[in-house]
Amino acid sequence: MAQAHDFTHQYAESEDGVTFVLLHGTGGDEYALIGLGNALDADAGVMSPRGKILENGSPRFFRRLAEGVFDMEDLVFRTHELADWIEAAAAEYGIDRDTLVAVGYSNGANIAASMLLLRPETLKRAILLRPMVPLVPESAPDLTGATVHIAAGASDPLIPLKESERLADLLKSYGAEVTFVRQPTGHQLVNADIAAAREWLQHITNA
Ligand code: MLT
Repeated sequence: MAQAHDFTHQYAESEDGVTFVLLHGTGGDEYALIGLGNALDADAGVMSPRGKILENGSPRFFRRLAEGVFDMEDLVFRTHELADWIEAAAAEYGIDRDTLVAVGYSNGANIAASMLLLRPETLKRAILLRPMVPLVPESAPDLTGATVHIAAGASDPLIPLKESERLADLLKSYGAEVTFVRQPTGHQLVNADIAAAREWLQHITNA
């Protein structure tokens, strides 16, 4: 049985009924996206795990063979491990999973996307910043009721814009509602990313 202590993580209780699952990029840790979470919604709670894979000392959520080439077996294993953790930690902290919003950047956005595809019941709302298609599932998930915000960088050298667009189409084909914004920038986040994600969040949490 998974337990909250299975991942090194940061936790903060929600003051407004929203809890972020913060998923950092390669080289980040459980603190890396705390500032971003505050900028998106300072009253939201936080569950922020550190990825268990180390690539030359840099934490990640799953193994890759080369840039953009994933170890698929590990990706599937790590996706279920993380989903099990989210379910266990939410239960231990007394959080209703309907109040969760995944916020993932880069590698963290990719495992969040993988979770939507392989474990759609774990959480239904996600902000995916610079994501790509992590995998195409063997059986179609039912993403009816899932709401996803995707932010791509038009000139991102790591995550080609087309990959983020392909992910948006894939999620929509399984029934998710997807908003897509494209920033005139690269892999790094810019203020406009935060503004657009905030607006989306306010829209879905007041809906
Ligand atoms: C990944 O490995 O998930 C992507 O290439 C993004 C990253 O560099 O972390």
